[in-house]
Amino acid sequence: MLSNIVLQWLRKLGLRDVIDRLRMSWQKLTLAKQNRAFRSEYPDVNLPKDDIMYETFNLNYRKYFEGGRKTAKEILSHFQKASKKDYPDSILDWGCGPGRVIRHMPELLPSATKVVGSDFNGETIEWCQRQIPNIEFVQNALMPPIQLKNESIEWVYCISVFTHLSRDAHHAWIQEIYRILQRGGYFLMTTQGDAFINKLTASEVKMYSDDQIVIRDGVEEGRRTFSAFHPPAYIKALTRDFKVQKHIPGTGSKNQPQQDIWVLSKGG
Ligand SMILES: C[S@@+](CC[C@H](N)C(=O)[O-])C[C@H]1O[C@@H](n2cnc3c(N)ncnc32)[C@H](O)[C@@H]1O
Repeated sequence: MLSNIVLQWLRKLGLRDVIDRLRMSWQKLTLAKQNRAFRSEYPDVNLPKDDIMYETFNLNYRKYFEGGRKTAKEILSHFQKASKKDYPDSILDWGCGPGRVIRHMPELLPSATKVVGSDFNGETIEWCQRQIPNIEFVQNALMPPIQLKNESIEWVYCISVFTHLSRDAHHAWIQEIYRILQRGGYFLMTTQGDAFINKLTASEVKMYSDDQIVIRDGVEEGRRTFSAFHPPAYIKALTRDFKVQKHIPGTGSKNQPQQDIWVLSKGG
C-alpha cells in the first residue's frame, strides 16, 4: 500500500515515467543471462528492441515468445469453446504491441484466415510490418476509427489494452469494436478486476467499490504507466450491447495479480 501511495505522488510530480525507465534498466541487468540463453536457443526468432518490448510487457524474452504462444493458444481455445467453431474467417488483435501474441496466429490458424494486428504506437507497428510475415498490420489513432469496414472481422481480441485507456476511450472503442465485429462474431478482452484491489489506494478502493472505473493518469494515455481498473459491474454496463458469454475473474498473488478475461458475442 505504501509503495502505491509513493507511486501516486511520483505521478503527481510528473516523475512516474522516470521511475519506470529505471525499472526497465534494472530488468535489463537482472534478466541479461536468461535472455542470452534464449537468444542462443532461438537464434532465428526476431525480437523487438528492448524499449519496444518493455513498453508493452517486460524484458523477459522467453516469456515474450513462449508465453505469447501459450496465450495465443488459450485465446483460440476460448473462442472455439464459445463459438463452437474451430477457426474464424478473420481475426484482429487490437493493441497488438510488438506481436507477442499475434505473431503465433498464422501457424495456429488455416492460411485462409485473415489475420490483422493494430496498435496506436507507430514505431511498434512499423517493426511488426517489417518483421512478422503473413499478418496485415494497421496503425490506428488513440481514438477510433480503425481502418476496417463494418462487420468485417469474426473474432476480435485485446489483451491489456483497455487497462491503459481513459473513460472516454473505453466508450468510444467498445462502440468501434461493435461496429467492426461480424454479427455472430466474438470479442475477448482482459481487464484489471478484483484481483488488483490490493494495488489500489484507499480513495481508489472507494471508487472501485462503487462500481466506478479507476483511472491513473498524469502520463500519456495509451502508454504503459497510464492505468485503468475495472469493477465487473462497470464492464457489464460498458458492454451492454454484447452478450457476456463468459467472465473469468483473475486470480494470482498479491504481487502478480492476473487480469479478468471477458468473452462476449455480438448477437446470438
Ligand atoms: C500492455 S500492452 C499489451 C500489448 C499486447 N496486447 C500484448 O498482450 O502483448 C498495451 C498495448 O495497447 C496499445 N494501445 C494503447 N492504446 C491503444 C489504442 N487506443 N489503440 C490501439 N492500441 C493501443 C499500446 O500501444 C500497447 O501496445
